Amino acid sequence: MDKKITVVGAGNVGATVAQRIIEKELADVVLIDIIEGVPQGKALDLKEAAPVEKHDADIIGANTYEASANSDIVIITAGIPRKPGMSRDDLISTNAGIMKNVTQQIAKFSPNTILIIVSNPLDAMCHVAYEASGFPGNRVIGMAGVLDSARFRAFIAMELNVSVENTHAFVLGGHGDTMVPLPRYSTVAGIPITELMSEDRINALVTRTANGGAEIVSLLKTGSAYYAPSSAAVEMAEAILKDKKKILPCAAYLDGEYGFKDLFIGVPVKLGKNGVEEIIQINLTESEKAALQKSANSVQDLKNILKKLAA
Ligand code: APR
Repeated sequence: MDKKITVVGAGNVGATVAQRIIEKELADVVLIDIIEGVPQGKALDLKEAAPVEKHDADIIGANTYEASANSDIVIITAGIPRKPGMSRDDLISTNAGIMKNVTQQIAKFSPNTILIIVSNPLDAMCHVAYEASGFPGNRVIGMAGVLDSARFRAFIAMELNVSVENTHAFVLGGHGDTMVPLPRYSTVAGIPITELMSEDRINALVTRTANGGAEIVSLLKTGSAYYAPSSAAVEMAEAILKDKKKILPCAAYLDGEYGFKDLFIGVPVKLGKNGVEEIIQINLTESEKAALQKSANSVQDLKNILKKLAA
């Protein structure tokens, strides 16, 4: 392939991201993990599946960063996942250290790359990567909104017994309990769901979406979701690699947009070859604005914790 994506973290999310990328022949993949043998073993296993899956993308595993040099995109999934009873925020001290170290290595070998951050707590990890890389804000993007919107879409399709392909949804804000699903902008074949479902049912789906990650954690017991998170990260990577100018909800660096400054939070962005090419500012009602503000406050709280950890 003429494109290269490095995936850091060869656990559940990282290995599934790698699999999806090569099976779509989007790019060659370098899979990096701190555990010796794991990225090499998973890469070889995936390489041996290629003849049956009928693709020619290359994949190698590594424990150091030399092989990642000059990647077009780097997807960072390194870190610990949640266990039942934990919130994403409980991961902050461990994952901040991992994110800083990984990002510095990546920036050294791929100074022009675009980072897609997946590790949690997502918005705070974007900040760590932004500061550790020194990259401009358009080249550090967090994966959250595509996943949260996909969950909302899945629930809408299940509720109305329609194809998921007919659904469209927007979830903004931080990737946590304060996320802001926007029913007004969520549609089935172009029809707002506010015209198709009662307020009670919409509220039930909104609540299920906000707790979507925790629902999976409580079922799996030993880790967190990875099929839908990997699909979401790969949709973002594909939009960038193919310069699709696709509008997707992502955690983006805001510099005054929506009234927030120096903050990563989920908003609709246009993704193309330069990463975030535009932050789309949609009109929000007073209550939607208040919900976004509340979500931004909780991201700001995590930023303050990061400052304390760094001190
Ligand atoms: N460098 C590289 N890899 C690392 C490092 C590091 N410094 N520290 C940990 N890892 C690797 C682990 O060895 C493990 O293989 O990250 C991988 C994480 O994989 P899993 O434990 O399976 O976790 P996963 O479910 O993939 O979630 C990863 O994504 O969705 C988020 O909340 C989730 O923060 C978590 C991350």
